[in-house]
Amino acid sequence: MLKAVILIGGPQKGTRFRPLSFEVPKPLFPVAGVPMLQHHIEACSKLPNMKEILLIGFYQPNEEINRFLSCAQQDFKISIRYLQEYAALGTGGGIYHFRDQILSGSPEAFFVMNADVCSEFPLPEMLDFQKEHGDAYSFVILGTTANRKQSLNYGCIVENEQTDEVLHYVEKPSTFVSDIINCGIYLFTPEIFQHIGTVFQKNQQDMLLEEQSNGWHRAEVIRLEQDIFTALAGQGKLYVYKTDRFWSQIKSAGSAIYASRLYLNQYHTTHPERLATNREGGPKTRGKCFIGCFVGKHQCLEFYTSSYW
Ligand code: GTP
Repeated sequence: MLKAVILIGGPQKGTRFRPLSFEVPKPLFPVAGVPMLQHHIEACSKLPNMKEILLIGFYQPNEEINRFLSCAQQDFKISIRYLQEYAALGTGGGIYHFRDQILSGSPEAFFVMNADVCSEFPLPEMLDFQKEHGDAYSFVILGTTANRKQSLNYGCIVENEQTDEVLHYVEKPSTFVSDIINCGIYLFTPEIFQHIGTVFQKNQQDMLLEEQSNGWHRAEVIRLEQDIFTALAGQGKLYVYKTDRFWSQIKSAGSAIYASRLYLNQYHTTHPERLATNREGGPKTRGKCFIGCFVGKHQCLEFYTSSYW
C-alpha cells in the first residue's frame, strides 16, 4: 500500500508569488485551469496501490481549502486529508510531526512532493527504480538536469554514475557542484523517520543546552534537504532517478505562466476535454492558442485554453 504527502507550506511562504497569493492560497492557484495541487493529486490517484493523500501545511483550514478537498476526493475517489502544523516545521519537520498519520495502515512506501512544482510526475517509474536500486529501504529523489548557472538555485546532486547513488547533496551551492538538481519529489520508506528522528533528538539536546523556552518548536524544525539528504548522501541509502520529462518550479507569477504552458502542451493527450473546441457560430481557434484572463493591474487569474489542429 502506498501513500503520498504534499507539502503545501503556509501563508508566510511563497512570498515571490505575491500579490497573486493574497487572493488565493498559492497551492490552490490555477495552473492550466485547475488548482496547482490538482495535478499532483491526479498523478497520485492513478497509482493502483495509492490509499491516501495527506496535505501538510500551516494554512488555517478555510472554506476554500475544505471545498477543494471534498471536490478532489469525489473526483479522484481517494481519501485526501489536510494536516495542519502548529507552526512552519520545515520540509522534514512536518512529515516527522505527523509520522503516525502517515504510517497508519502500514504503507510500505510514500511519496513526498513539494506543492510548488509542475511535473509529468513519473511516479510509476520511481517505484520501479526503487525496487532496482539499493536495498528494500532505500530512498529516491527525482532529479533532472539544469545548466550550470541555473543549478545554483536548486539542491544539487553528485551521483555515482554506475549505481545512481547520491554521493553528495548540496542545497543551493555558491559555486558549481553538479548539473543534476533536486525536483522536490521523493519516494521514501518508513525508515526515513529513523533518520529524521536522529536529527530531532540532536536538535532537542542542543536546545536543552541553550535553555530556550521555545526549544521544542525549534527542535522540530527540520529541512529534508540540508538536514537529511546531505547526511544520507554517500551512505548507500539515497538514489537519484533522473527524468528528462518536463519539470519546473512555480515560485513567481511568471513561472506559473510557464508551468501552465507545460501542462497545456500535455492536455492534447491527457485532457482534451479541458481544451477549447470550435463550436458552430462561435469564435474559431487555430493552432496552439493560449488565452489568459487578466483582472486588475497585476493579477492574472486563470489561463484556460489551448486548441490544436
Ligand atoms: P526557496 O527558494 O526559499 O523558496 O526554497 P525552496 O525552493 O527550496 O522551497 P522551500 O523549501 O521553501 O519549499 C518547498 C516546498 O515545501 C514548497 O511547496 C513549500 O510550500 C513547502 N514547505 C516549505 N516549508 C514548509 C513548512 O514549514 N511546512 C510545510 N508543510 N511545507 C513547507
